[in-house]
Amino acid sequence: MVSPVLILCLILPVLFLFFFQYRRTLKNPPFPPGPRGLPIIGNLHQLDNSNLYLQLYHLSQKYGSIFSIRLGLRPAIVVSSAKLARELFKDNDPEVSDRPKCFGQQRLSYDGLDMIFSQYGQFWREIRKICVVHILGTKSVSKYYSIRVFELKRMMKKLYGHASSSKVTNLNEMLMSLTTTIICRIVFGRGYDEEGAERSRFHGMFNECQAMWATFFVSDYIPFLGWVDKLTGLRARLEKNFKDLDKFYEEVLAECIDPNRKTPQNEGMIDVLIQLKKESSSSLKLTNNHIKAILMDMLLGATDTTSATAVWAMTALLKNPRVMKKVQEEIRTLGGKKEFLEDHDVEKFLYLKAVIKEVFRLYPAAPTLVARETNKACMIGGYEIPAKTILYVNAWAIHRNPESWKDPEEFLPERFLDSTVDFHGNDFELIPFGAGRRICPGLHMAAASLHLILANILNSFDWELPAGVRPEDIDEEMLPGLAQHKKNPLYVLAKPRI
Ligand code: HEM
Repeated sequence: MVSPVLILCLILPVLFLFFFQYRRTLKNPPFPPGPRGLPIIGNLHQLDNSNLYLQLYHLSQKYGSIFSIRLGLRPAIVVSSAKLARELFKDNDPEVSDRPKCFGQQRLSYDGLDMIFSQYGQFWREIRKICVVHILGTKSVSKYYSIRVFELKRMMKKLYGHASSSKVTNLNEMLMSLTTTIICRIVFGRGYDEEGAERSRFHGMFNECQAMWATFFVSDYIPFLGWVDKLTGLRARLEKNFKDLDKFYEEVLAECIDPNRKTPQNEGMIDVLIQLKKESSSSLKLTNNHIKAILMDMLLGATDTTSATAVWAMTALLKNPRVMKKVQEEIRTLGGKKEFLEDHDVEKFLYLKAVIKEVFRLYPAAPTLVARETNKACMIGGYEIPAKTILYVNAWAIHRNPESWKDPEEFLPERFLDSTVDFHGNDFELIPFGAGRRICPGLHMAAASLHLILANILNSFDWELPAGVRPEDIDEEMLPGLAQHKKNPLYVLAKPRI
């Protein structure tokens, strides 16, 4: 017979364990609810990178505007309301301003020597200050105005060419090429848009870098299985991309410091950074690796996001002929008969501004923003969120949340006409550029480009769909990736305004 003492010895520890667990639950608020995961992999099998914002949106419908998931061994929470975004970015901003360290991103950013992936702290403060003061501030936005104008006029010339031969235009391709060229010229002082080996080398590396940025590495979420990334060849692929890019940056740097170099028409961000390195005026001593990491941020942060937004704007306008007509009327009436509208003309177009805000609301280019990580425990939504928790803010869901927006699915720029809501990070219901300390520093540059491009192509052309295509036929499918691109090309006929 089993002795009662032995039974007690077995039962007591279990009872103690339950008791302490119960006391801990009473003392600490519980972790937000969420879908049940599997051992080790957590919820990874239920999520994929193709349309994360949509999967997270569906989960928020079930578990609420704050819920938890587990990415392998790493806990994460997802926030889907303006009220909680305010708690994060206003009440707890310093505690939620780290970025999760991911293998590919760290390697490509020279171990976080850039701005996007560096941890919140003194280094990030210095690097952000350098970028905002010298290459991204309003002064720099004006300095690069002539590049935007030159390239936009070049694209419009191509559009006139298409129009004269009644050729259908692939607007995705056209706008992607325009924004890439503008950004390249701003960053490097020269473009990589001419046909030939150099162009295809640059685009090949750049596309691969974008893919590596967004790729899932097992070592990020289940470190003890990190060898899987070696086995699948992913690490070798990353290393190759890093080496190719590094060689390319070194060549461009050497070109820029060559004393025999022809003075460029416009100095690029690279020239400014080289000068700052020479002067060593800031307390952070810039090295070539810092410069290379910053260049990567500028290229990757700027190109896809701006071009995807421009394509979504035209998609939305072609799907909504009423809005297209109204915005063109405004531009053409207030813009007079000008062939090309300048920055100061664009300032007057209040309806165009409302259209662009509505595009940012319905089609945020970075729908889950850029992931953050807590560096200290903090209270969010009544839950204690421990340090080292990954945070996703689902801007796509916030922008369509009926708590903040009337008829959220409707493309209705009028909603902004009598409203002060803007995308500068103070109104948490509209955060396409994020908010708080780490808000996108390229916001002014992106907004300036988008307003100028749209004002001019809407002023100079009427836009028609190819024969047989109706506005309601235009699809809104998105491509997987960092920035949400329209998956299927937007084919249009540009008709010069008479
Ligand atoms: C429509 C265009 C753009 C969108 C939608 C966009 C969106 C974003 C978002 C959501 C973030 C993360 C903010 C956060 O964590 O709260 C971000 C960060 C960043 N963006 Fe942009 N961006 C755009 C254009 C640009 C441009 C033109 C540049 C540079 C030329 C740029 C450079 C950066 C950098 C460097 C960061 C990192 C800031 C930091 O971590 O401190 N972006 N952007």
